[in-house]
Amino acid sequence: SNDPLVVFTPSGKRGRFAKGTPVLTAARQLGVDLDSVCGGRGICSKCQISPGYGEFAKHGVYVASDALSEWNSVEQRYKDKRGLIEGRRLGCQATVQGDVVIDVPPESQVHRQVVRKRAEARDILINPSTKLFYIEVAEPDMHDPSGDLERLRDALHEQWQLEKVHADLHILQIMQPILRKGNWKVTVAVHLGDQENTPRIMNIWPGFYEGTVYGLAVDLGSTTIAAHLCDLQTGEVVASSGVMNPQIRFGEDLMSRVSYAMMNEKGAEEMTRAVRSGMCALFSQISLDAGIDLNLIVDSVFVCNPVMHHLFLGIDPFELGQAPFALATSNALRLRAGDIDLNIHPSARVYLLPCIAGHVGADAAAVALSEAPDESEDLVLIVDVGTNAEIFLGNREKVLACSSPTGPAFEGAQISSGQRAAPGAIERVEIDPETKLPRIKVIGCDLWSDEPGFEEEISGTGVTGICGSGIIEMVAEMRVHGIVDAPGLIGSPEQTGSAAVFADGRTYSYLVYDATERGGPRITVTNRDIREIQMAKAALYSGARLLMDKFGVDKVDRVVLAGAFGAHISPKHAMILGMIPDAPFDKVTSAGNAAGTGARIALLNIAARAEIEATVRAIHKIETAIEPRFQEHFVNASAIPNAVEPFPILNS
Ligand code: FES
Repeated sequence: SNDPLVVFTPSGKRGRFAKGTPVLTAARQLGVDLDSVCGGRGICSKCQISPGYGEFAKHGVYVASDALSEWNSVEQRYKDKRGLIEGRRLGCQATVQGDVVIDVPPESQVHRQVVRKRAEARDILINPSTKLFYIEVAEPDMHDPSGDLERLRDALHEQWQLEKVHADLHILQIMQPILRKGNWKVTVAVHLGDQENTPRIMNIWPGFYEGTVYGLAVDLGSTTIAAHLCDLQTGEVVASSGVMNPQIRFGEDLMSRVSYAMMNEKGAEEMTRAVRSGMCALFSQISLDAGIDLNLIVDSVFVCNPVMHHLFLGIDPFELGQAPFALATSNALRLRAGDIDLNIHPSARVYLLPCIAGHVGADAAAVALSEAPDESEDLVLIVDVGTNAEIFLGNREKVLACSSPTGPAFEGAQISSGQRAAPGAIERVEIDPETKLPRIKVIGCDLWSDEPGFEEEISGTGVTGICGSGIIEMVAEMRVHGIVDAPGLIGSPEQTGSAAVFADGRTYSYLVYDATERGGPRITVTNRDIREIQMAKAALYSGARLLMDKFGVDKVDRVVLAGAFGAHISPKHAMILGMIPDAPFDKVTSAGNAAGTGARIALLNIAARAEIEATVRAIHKIETAIEPRFQEHFVNASAIPNAVEPFPILNS
């Protein structure tokens, strides 16, 4: 054919089109991802493209300078009034006149990628749940008895091929004056729906709406609630904020909250009210920070553990407190903000990821979505360390998951000088091989304790305690330097050769830092502290080891440490302790807040929701409590690093 050849980059899609075909039309026909909000009326500029001129040997075309049409009045008007980047054209106005190579820049793509900073992490592909559509609605007429909404829906159908679009009552309540104000031209935000939801009008504006709509990715933890406000079109995080979970006043940890609900008649209701009001305060703050109206928040995704999940939804967590730990539902949930008293747009969609099992919640599902063990070529072990450790082992073939009751020791609880990670907490430890005395580093100070100026630097907070990552390094260093033996006993000063060891009742303790002369604290590690860490790390290791048994392997290719805690622990020390299986140090990486990232992926990519639901259904769940091998592994793993298993890589 003599019709001009059109090649789109970066997709590489190509086809021949009759002279005079608008670039947007050619893109549509080839399935090229080119955005449009105004439907080709030259108003929105979402369809911007960059034509290339000259020789394109790779595509076998020469592009003449007149390959696209001259600027028409609509395009010229847009450029004069709003400006266009040099070299850009409006794809809906420029028409094909000769062979041409057309680049679609990222901001003109609906399905653009948000790049993640970590090398091993997949980029986030945007597939927006909610899109804006500019439409021209037929005016009412004495001869046509239809309602305004029916004509608006007809316009969505004719101009955008959107069918069966639903509108809630509140849209009906605001729609008529907006249609008239816009002179029958309006922009609507439509939630496109997915398997369980039909498309739904979320908001309506007169004329062309320049703004955007937003969504929230919320990580509802038992201690803190963190939220990211995202632009649903670009994927950009516009504001982030966090608050303490107000449920803390009913109990520090999950089980104490479950028992509060059991002991008090209205206990569960009180906690539901508390978490929802905390959430609303957080959303108000975040919308204030971003300078946007709460009503512009039209979608939201929540990740949380099973107890938080039930309390947030107003479901009594009673059953989660006792075997067999039955969830009210393990499926993903699709609700409306109004159903659970949230202060964002009342029709805003609320999506909760599926729970994996009674102990393994939507937060773990979000970790799986973020880290994608089901797509990994090599065998990856993912651990999310908290009061419970959630553990995944898998690759493309299959994924196994379990949870293991590590207890709160890794968070600094139940350790004599333990504390949460905060300024003043010891986070790093090194023991001198000669003197067997420790040097420490505390959060909020760049100096080690034996460097000049340390005491002045920390005079604000002082040294206040040891946080989770600090206690891991501490115990690992004590083991390496012979202060603690493999079964976990601290030796005498004579046995260890350390002046920091002192008799403490029937056992020995190790002095880490002493500021009593200056009226400060005295921080020690007792043999009981070592015991707590042994229990916690044994639980973690035996969960991982059990999954390895089930998978039929005795080593893993790589280890991913998820969660805030995982971001701070040193792989070497974790391995010296025998907390994680033996693996090359450079194959142990931290994923940061993977649950939060998973929430953001589900928010920005509507298709990811169905994907993670299928992934979770396919995960093999292993219940550690009923596996005899778990106990066996646990006993062996109580030793440091392990009573029976060698750590060849660690020891090489
Ligand atoms: Fe809106 Fe081209 S599609 S300006």
